[in-house]
Amino acid sequence: MTKIKVLPHAQLCPDGLEFNAEKGISVCENLLNQDIDIEHACELSCACTTCHVIFTEGFNSLNESSDDEEDLLDKAWGLEPRSRLSCQTIVTDSDLEIEIPKYTINMVSENHPKAPRNEDKKISSIDFEISNKAANHLSAMLNSSDSSGIRISLMDSGCSGYAYKLDLVKNIEESDFNGTINGINLFIHDKSFTFLKGTKLDFIQKNLNEELVFNNPNVSAECGCGESFNFDSTLATELSSN
Ligand code: FES
Repeated sequence: MTKIKVLPHAQLCPDGLEFNAEKGISVCENLLNQDIDIEHACELSCACTTCHVIFTEGFNSLNESSDDEEDLLDKAWGLEPRSRLSCQTIVTDSDLEIEIPKYTINMVSENHPKAPRNEDKKISSIDFEISNKAANHLSAMLNSSDSSGIRISLMDSGCSGYAYKLDLVKNIEESDFNGTINGINLFIHDKSFTFLKGTKLDFIQKNLNEELVFNNPNVSAECGCGESFNFDSTLATELSSN
């Protein structure tokens, strides 16, 4: 009988669990069969990273990962040398011990465990800076609308993984981080906050072009066209433990 031991995870399995696994199906399916509600946004089709787990025991006994899985793993939150996508690992005769990362980087899933957040969800320019030029630009946008503030979030995008999303908002999301920064009523999507912390938003004019620019110290890689970016998983882990 193959055993899977799941280390405690605050939301999904607070006390940890050890169970007799079903061989021939994936680790992800085994977890779901035990009512451990690990995310599986692509329905186990190796097209997301949300089922990412770390094998603390039994890693070397696993089936080989495919190129697709390796590519996706590069985008996983909290990547470790013994990380795998649980939907792509098949249970055999070897016992396994797994850790489910504290977060996934699926910014849009409603069932996602909350990202780390300030107790009162108040933010200041220590968390997120807005330059004078950017503040003037955002003020002008707000003045020409009936919105009460600006909301920033991350969304899946492009070849590198993520892009910034900036919205004029009228209604406040209860879960958002919020603060008045350089005169701008700013909201930050709670799950995006970790990855935006320390950012300075600037507004640049070059020749005939002008644009808002995010100087985000957490970004580790950008695609050639500058449209999208990704994060260093080690840094993301450090940020999460603050
Ligand atoms: S559920 Fe999407 S890759 Fe596993």
